[in-house]
Amino acid sequence: MTSETITADAAGTWKLGDLSVSRVGFGAMRLTGSAAFHFGTPSDRQRSIAVLHKAVELGVTHIDTAAFYFSALRSANELINTALAPYPDDLVIATKVGPYRDYSGEWGTSARPDQLRGHVEENLRQLGRDHLDVVYLRRMRQDSIAEHFGALAELREAGLIRHLGISGVEPRHLAEAQAIAPVVSVQNQYAVDRLDPVDDEVLRICGEQGIAFVPFYAVAGKAGAEGGTTAHDDEVLAVARAHGVSPAQVRIAWTLHQGPHVLAIPGTGNPDHLAENVAAGALRLTADELARLNAAREQAG
Ligand SMILES: NC(=O)c1ccc[n+]([C@@H]2O[C@H](COP(=O)([O-])OP(=O)(O)OC[C@H]3O[C@@H](n4cnc5c(N)ncnc54)[C@H](OP(=O)(O)O)[C@@H]3O)[C@@H](O)[C@H]2O)c1
Repeated sequence: MTSETITADAAGTWKLGDLSVSRVGFGAMRLTGSAAFHFGTPSDRQRSIAVLHKAVELGVTHIDTAAFYFSALRSANELINTALAPYPDDLVIATKVGPYRDYSGEWGTSARPDQLRGHVEENLRQLGRDHLDVVYLRRMRQDSIAEHFGALAELREAGLIRHLGISGVEPRHLAEAQAIAPVVSVQNQYAVDRLDPVDDEVLRICGEQGIAFVPFYAVAGKAGAEGGTTAHDDEVLAVARAHGVSPAQVRIAWTLHQGPHVLAIPGTGNPDHLAENVAAGALRLTADELARLNAAREQAG
């Protein structure tokens, strides 16, 4: 079976509140251009639109985006709107607020709680919707997220947001948020070559409580914003060889094996990589392979 014939069904679904999503989703951050984060050369518009069409064709029903994903000439939200509106009924679009970029793309200070309504409305305008399915509060180093999350909880009450998530958090932030409103999803950095006990603990707590855990930089690994890493661990390469798949696919599959509540959102601007990433949902790793990958992770940790 080639990558092109494997659909997102292979990895099954999860529920974000009342919304069912494919466990293999799509991250929109790489749609807007090359180079570190999203400065640099703007992407080819038709190619990015083709990636979005292909994601939906292959059964992806979970797209992760943000208004602050933009390059000089491209906006992830605008591309999603252009490619996919009117949106399929089963498509869930999750967005994030908290970080702030000015019009030239420079990062500014993070949003104050009273500015979050404007940031949510910006996402609504760009996506062309009158409510947002899931909105994450992306924590920006603040010790307490209560004020920011409380502001989003009010917008949820007002009907602008269906479900809330949090991102870049420790277990104490999850507890803090849950005292204010239900949390359906947590999005943290997490990869087979990056061991952080705090993120492992968050993943475990989410599993116990039936909350989705959504890793970012699972493919990019330690390269993070810089993009896909070529510095794959020997075990990742060995498992990839054994299955005749790419290291990126092993990286995605490993995250999906950490629990049924783990949702992948690999990001790409390349239609071939998109098909490969969706196909990673069909990859079944053996207990021995998982043990070897985990041991290598501990060692590199
Ligand atoms: N909450 C947060 O703070 C936060 C932070 C960062 C990102 N995110 C979200 O998480 C999503 C995932 O993160 P990400 O997009 O930065 O990283 P990623 O999925 O870990 O990796 C993306 C990088 O890997 C490359 N890549 C993807 N699939 C590949 C494949 N099959 N083979 C080889 N290379 C491949 C991409 O390049 P090509 O484009 O060339 O394929 C890109 O450079 C983002 O899109 C965004 O929605 C959230």
